[in-house]
Amino acid sequence: MKNFNSLIMISKRAQNISPSETLKISAKAKQLAREGVSVISLSAGEPDFKTPAHICNAAIDAITGGFHGYTMNTGIPELREAISAKLMRENRINIPADQIVLSNGAKQSIGFTILAAIDEGDEVIIPAPYWVSYPEMVKLAGGTPVPVKTLFANDYKLTPEQLEEAITPKTKALILCSPSNPTGSCYTRSELKDLAKILEKYPHILIISDEIYEYIVFDGEHTSILNAAPQLIDRTVIINGFSKGFAMTGWRLGYMAGPKPLVDAVANIQSQETSAPSTISQMAGIAAYNGTMKPVEEMRIAFKERRDFVVKELRSIEGVECFSPSGAFYVFPDIHVFFGRHTPEGEKINTSTDLSLYLIDQHGIATVPGDAFGEPDGIRLSYAVSMEDLKEAMARLKDGLSSLN
Ligand SMILES: Cc1ncc(COP(=O)(O)O)c(C=O)c1O
Repeated sequence: MKNFNSLIMISKRAQNISPSETLKISAKAKQLAREGVSVISLSAGEPDFKTPAHICNAAIDAITGGFHGYTMNTGIPELREAISAKLMRENRINIPADQIVLSNGAKQSIGFTILAAIDEGDEVIIPAPYWVSYPEMVKLAGGTPVPVKTLFANDYKLTPEQLEEAITPKTKALILCSPSNPTGSCYTRSELKDLAKILEKYPHILIISDEIYEYIVFDGEHTSILNAAPQLIDRTVIINGFSKGFAMTGWRLGYMAGPKPLVDAVANIQSQETSAPSTISQMAGIAAYNGTMKPVEEMRIAFKERRDFVVKELRSIEGVECFSPSGAFYVFPDIHVFFGRHTPEGEKINTSTDLSLYLIDQHGIATVPGDAFGEPDGIRLSYAVSMEDLKEAMARLKDGLSSLN
C-alpha cells in the first residue's frame, strides 16, 4: 500500500495502473542524450516531420483573430462537420456531426469511450500485441482486459476463431487497432468481414476501432471495420485524430465518432473532466481536413521508403524474423532466438526487456520491448526518424545482436 503522508493513501485504482512503458523508454533515451551519450531513439510514437504549414497558419490566424475562448464541449460545429464530411468522402461512412466528440487526442477519446461503456467486471477483448494504454484504460474503468495472443505467422492479427473463443457472457467490447501499434499490421477487408461474422452472433459487443494511423498505409487502402461490415454501425466507435497522419502530436486533437447514446455519455464525462480541446488546435484541425493532403502523402511515401529499408536490414540479421507491415511507422520483429544468449560483459538476455536495455545501454539504440505490448517474443522499432539515423541505427543493431553469444 502506498501513502504519501501517514494518513492519505493513493487510491487502489491508481495503484493498479502501470506507467506507459513506451514513455519510460523515450524518457530514458532523452536522459542519456542529455548526458551526452549518442542515442538513436527508435522508441518514439510520433512522426519526425513538422506539422504542414497551412495547418500552422490556421492556428496563427486563430490566435491573431481572437479565437481565445472555450468552444462547445464536443468541439467547434464546423470541425465536427468537417470530420463528418471527411468520414463520408474518404471512408464512405455516414456519421452525422452530432455523433462526433472532439478531444485532447485519440488517447482521451479511447479512455472516455471505455469509461462510458465499461462497468465493473465487464470484459474487453484486446488482441495482443496491443497498444500499451488499452488494458490500463480498461482497468481504470473497473473492467477486465482480456488479451488474446495473436500469432507472428498471421502478422499478429486476430482470427475469427480466436475472437469467438475469447467471447464470454461478460464480454462488453472488442478493441481493434488497424493499422496497428505496435506491429504495423493492417486488417484486410476480407479479414474484417470474417471477424464481423462472429460479432454478428453477439450483438451485445461494442467495437472500438482505433484508426489513428489510417493515413500511413502502404499496401492498398485503409479499411475500417465499417467498410467491411456497415451493418455494425450502431455498435462501432471510430477513434481517430490528427497526431500521426498530420504530424500534430503536440497539438492534442482527436475524436470519437459513434452511436448517439454512447457519444452523449462520452460528452457528459468530458464536460466534467476536461471540456473541449484547445480552440487553436481545433481551428488547425479544420484546416487539416479541408486543406491539401499533399504533405500527408509526402510523409506516407517517406515512411514507405524507410519501412522497406528497415525490413530488408532486419531480415539480413541472422535469427531475426520480420514481416513487412502494411502501415503505421513501426516494425515488430520476433527476436526470441536471442533469449538465453550472453552479452560480451557476461549478462544473460532472458527477455525482450533485457534485450532493449542492453541495446540502449551498450549500443545507443532505444527500442521498446515486446513485453510492454503483451508479446514477449517481439521488440518494437519505430522508423519515424531520418534515413540517416535509421542507417546508423541498423548498423548498431546488427553490431549489438551479433555480439551476443
Ligand atoms: C494506437 C494508438 N492509438 C491512440 C494513440 C493516441 O494518439 P493521440 O496523440 O491522438 O492521443 C496512439 C499514440 O501513440 C496510438 O499509437
